[in-house]
Amino acid sequence: MVKKSWGFATLAVHGSGGGDPQTGALSPPIYQSSTFAFKNADHGARLFAGEEKGFIYTRISNPTQEALEREMAFLEGGEAALAFASGMAATTGVVLTLARSGENIISIRMVYGGTHALFMDVLSRLDIEVREVDGEELVEFEEKIDEKTRMIFIETPANPTLKIVDIRGCARIAKKAGIPLVVDNTFATPYYQRPLKLGTDIVIHSATKYIGGHGDTVAGLAVGSREFIDRMRKETLIDTGGIISPFNAWLLLRGLKTLPVRMDRHSSNAKRVAQFLNFHPKVKQVWYPGLRTHPQHELAKSQMSGFGGMVAFEINGGRREGKILMDSVKLCTLAVSLGDCDTLISHPPSMTHSTYSAEALKEAGIPEGLIRISVGIEDVKDIIDDLKYALAKI
Ligand SMILES: Cc1ncc(COP(=O)(O)O)c(C=O)c1O
Repeated sequence: MVKKSWGFATLAVHGSGGGDPQTGALSPPIYQSSTFAFKNADHGARLFAGEEKGFIYTRISNPTQEALEREMAFLEGGEAALAFASGMAATTGVVLTLARSGENIISIRMVYGGTHALFMDVLSRLDIEVREVDGEELVEFEEKIDEKTRMIFIETPANPTLKIVDIRGCARIAKKAGIPLVVDNTFATPYYQRPLKLGTDIVIHSATKYIGGHGDTVAGLAVGSREFIDRMRKETLIDTGGIISPFNAWLLLRGLKTLPVRMDRHSSNAKRVAQFLNFHPKVKQVWYPGLRTHPQHELAKSQMSGFGGMVAFEINGGRREGKILMDSVKLCTLAVSLGDCDTLISHPPSMTHSTYSAEALKEAGIPEGLIRISVGIEDVKDIIDDLKYALAKI
């Protein structure tokens, strides 16, 4: 029996409720089945009518998915969770459950490029307006709210420059307006930040990243109240179909067991990398929330218990110098995504954030020469030596 009072690392190992009681298998079984047999016609009818609990079809629910959802709800401190085929499917599921044609949502300007494209290109086709704010001043959010606003969406730390948004402040504004606050918690993970405890209503993850942790799965999660999660499953997910596969749910359950130890290592390595870059003569600026030089270090400290594995920096020069750096590294892998055991290096303006126009990049404060590193769990000396070598090539 799982106890809510257990510490985070204990819940990460045991929160799914364990293995298979029938066989004693310690690892949770992968229920790789699309459909589930009914005992008789009445049983099937009762399941469809919601009069009895049980499994019908994997697009609706599945025991392996359920084990993952149970564990994620524990880790984020929410009542319930819902697993999706990707982080984008999770964001789409939340938005489509909350907003409809003729209504609007408020979002910070600096978000993951795919989220930005969903908001600007897809939602506009559905006549859902997205009102963007910088997110530094809380009054900006208040000014954009009207009677047709259905949610506030923030990402913090935000992709790619690790901007921090005040979760408690946004929660206060959302509560006053009677609308939910949705936080993308991908970068921090529940190990370092628990938005629900700070007044947030719904948390979203690209579970592809630190939750899975090994770069072998694309998946998403949303956590919130039982009422909201049940409504989203019924009103949106079942009929849009972006469900996680049982095997991917199992990979995430396996990844979650080591989340705390991985995050400790990502975070200590990232701090050392950020400190190294901060003093390098070829580096103009470094963004890492754990550095005292980060413009929002105090705010980060007030809502995060650690600062994670993501570092962004701008080198002297611009795109050309950035290209030389990325083509010169030998250990760091030139790839998008983040949260893998391997260190990944990328150029957001031409990659993850290529969905932004040059003007939108400027407006969001994303410099042309920005490099983003997802610091892995290798020996930090080897990561720093690799960057030192590549910086010397510029
Ligand atoms: C902060 C953040 N949110 C959401 C997503 C989308 O997740 P996925 O790629 O799993 O669909 C990403 C992807 O990079 C991300 O970085």
